[in-house]
Amino acid sequence: MSFFETVTMAPPDAILGLTEAFKKDATPHKINLSVGVYKDENGETPIFDTVKKAEEALLKREKSKGYLPIDGSPEYNSAVQNMVFGKGHECLASGRVATAHTPGGTAALRVAADFLHSAFPAATIWTSDPTWPNHPGVFKAGGLPVKTYPYFDAATNTLDFPAMIGALKSIPPGDVVLLHGCCHNPTGVDPTPEQWKQILAVLQERDLLPLVDFAYQGLADGLSEDALGVRTLCVPGCEMLVASSFSKNFGLYNERVGALSVVAADAEGAQRVLSQIKATIRANYSNPPSHGGAIVSTILNDAGLTHEWESEVTAMRVRINGMRELFVKTLKEKGIDRDFSFICRQRGMFSFSGLNKDQVERLKKEFGIYVVGSGRINVAGMTRNNMDRLCEAIAAVLK
Ligand code: LMR
Repeated sequence: MSFFETVTMAPPDAILGLTEAFKKDATPHKINLSVGVYKDENGETPIFDTVKKAEEALLKREKSKGYLPIDGSPEYNSAVQNMVFGKGHECLASGRVATAHTPGGTAALRVAADFLHSAFPAATIWTSDPTWPNHPGVFKAGGLPVKTYPYFDAATNTLDFPAMIGALKSIPPGDVVLLHGCCHNPTGVDPTPEQWKQILAVLQERDLLPLVDFAYQGLADGLSEDALGVRTLCVPGCEMLVASSFSKNFGLYNERVGALSVVAADAEGAQRVLSQIKATIRANYSNPPSHGGAIVSTILNDAGLTHEWESEVTAMRVRINGMRELFVKTLKEKGIDRDFSFICRQRGMFSFSGLNKDQVERLKKEFGIYVVGSGRINVAGMTRNNMDRLCEAIAAVLK
């Protein structure tokens, strides 16, 4: 008997599956704008200078490869807290935040899902429609039922805030609402400061727990500017979870470095939740891998390196926003009438282009240009060198 005979083939991943297909594609001058990975002007994904410096320091300093604690090192966790909430924030001063180092933002979300499902078996998690295609899979794997609230108005390429807030007002108390801290993936459209306040009011009124996916801090308008949403929700007495990722803002994609922070009503609550999060981690991957977290912690605990790293993040953000402008301008030059100016108002790595499934398929088949099936384009993968070819191909599929 074969146990595995009945096992069927899983479909390729909506994002990473495209990179696998891209690698096999023999089309000359192919372009991969699917997965959210930053490319510099030469089309390379560089290692930050500060990361290299931190690694050199670690090579000299590290004396052991012994296990980290289940929740990671205290230096890393407090550096993450300062970055997310801002040094001296009330929630930090009162000790009501606890953080666990996780292998990437995805593990932070998965640990959150496992914890939420075991602590609140009746809870559903509500995600924006659309959202990162992996969100439903991660939450369902943790046992959480997933439902959606409206988010994007495709006709105007803006946030459909009335529909969003109306839907949040009808979510049953006790449920969890997933929010994107900044650089909404896939639309690139975020709430305004005023809208974040209204979101907070509804969460409080309805007794809903926010889980903020914060994977792009620094890529929209600045490191502290991008924390406005999280910090707006973080009022005295509030409770929330925050999943951080350092794949993008430290370029540490393959080191898998992230964190899950809990903000509880008080310090004692934070420790109780942390104990459950640690139990979840122990039963899953036991304790986090050290290297990526040690890099982040080395940079964030050294004023000089932090300053230099902030400049590197700024350079990345400026290049992405420059590519947005150039993309819109080049589309126009290639004779496209459709108004794509909304792309300059979107933020982060992604733009929701409005290209339909057939057009996305033609880009891949006829031009070797890979974007996500939803029409999401990784602007951070555009360069001056691939721009003409990209815009000519888009002009062809729009005809
Ligand atoms: C993306 O959305 O492309 C990134 O978050 C990478 C991934 O793991 O999907």
